[in-house]
Amino acid sequence: MYSFRNDYSEGAHPAVLKALQKSNAVQTPGYGTDRYCEEARTLIRTLCDAPEADVHFFVGGTQVNLTCCSAFLRPFEAVIAPSTGHPLVHETGAFEATGHMVISVPTPNGKLTAAQVRTVCTAHSTEHMVRPRMVYISNSTEIGTVYTKEELSALHKECKELGLYLYLDGARLGSGMVSTCAPLDWPDLAQTLDAFTIGGTKNGILFGEALVITKDALKSDFRYHMKQRGAMLAKGRLLGIQFQAILEKGRYLDNARHANALAQTLQTGIAALGYSFLVESPTNQIFPIFPDTLLRQLEKDYEYEVQQPMKDSSTCIRLVTSWATPEEAVTQFLTDLTRLSK
Ligand SMILES: Cc1ncc(COP(=O)(O)O)c(C=O)c1O
Repeated sequence: MYSFRNDYSEGAHPAVLKALQKSNAVQTPGYGTDRYCEEARTLIRTLCDAPEADVHFFVGGTQVNLTCCSAFLRPFEAVIAPSTGHPLVHETGAFEATGHMVISVPTPNGKLTAAQVRTVCTAHSTEHMVRPRMVYISNSTEIGTVYTKEELSALHKECKELGLYLYLDGARLGSGMVSTCAPLDWPDLAQTLDAFTIGGTKNGILFGEALVITKDALKSDFRYHMKQRGAMLAKGRLLGIQFQAILEKGRYLDNARHANALAQTLQTGIAALGYSFLVESPTNQIFPIFPDTLLRQLEKDYEYEVQQPMKDSSTCIRLVTSWATPEEAVTQFLTDLTRLSK
């Protein structure tokens, strides 16, 4: 049995484990005030060419998203998000539980446009309605698509004009950054986003997301918000050590390149057999549509997520590759699919 269910099915990159082991007996202060966290912060600021950015470390993605939502917004302010966005589908109402409405915008490809943002703001024009204040996007998106640098710049410009914060959930930031059709550099992120996360859990560390805040107005008292949301880890060093290890020597982007390349091999191989896709993805999550009868055979040897049922007794599934996926698993899947498709 091989699992293409997710990119957090394995543990951590050996360099991360080595760094944790090497630092194991070292005593440090807690709650992210240790030297490992400080070194990781410096590394992130240097990569992003953003010496003034604030950097905080969190254990998980939902936790960082909801902490930002509650910290950045006033009580009557709301978030605009694409309808496929993680907070709208897989966070158990965490944003709304902080008291803020999430305005859902349907999109064909998981991406928000500047024009859509403006339309929402125009429609929310009086104090009888919530006031949109933050735009939530993810890159790569929940359906594997990516924003180009130009699209991010357009969103940034629109948000600035409308007085909105642009927040990017980077749970799969690496896969987005190294996608061949829309590559991004670290400084591109710092220049176009008010805050963004660097996802570690899905790209080779045991757990953790780093939050980078570039906008001064969002920085103050942030650690108070973290603590109140239960997001300040006593052994915060574990996050600093892991981020340092994964960001050093280009490992973070190398991991993402590996995952993307294998997903693309899968996508190309599946397309060559005549199957279609919900959406064409340039990243490490792909969404083929298979007949249900074929899936009954495939599931004997492979695990995957069901994305959605389709017409004609077929189903769209999600296949995800990771930094740790061996090439042989992809080759074997394509061999098996070829045999089952005859
Ligand atoms: C885009 C995105 N954001 C946030 C999360 C939430 O992460 P966590 O499960 O660590 O709360 C996920 C997890 O799948 C995700 O895909």
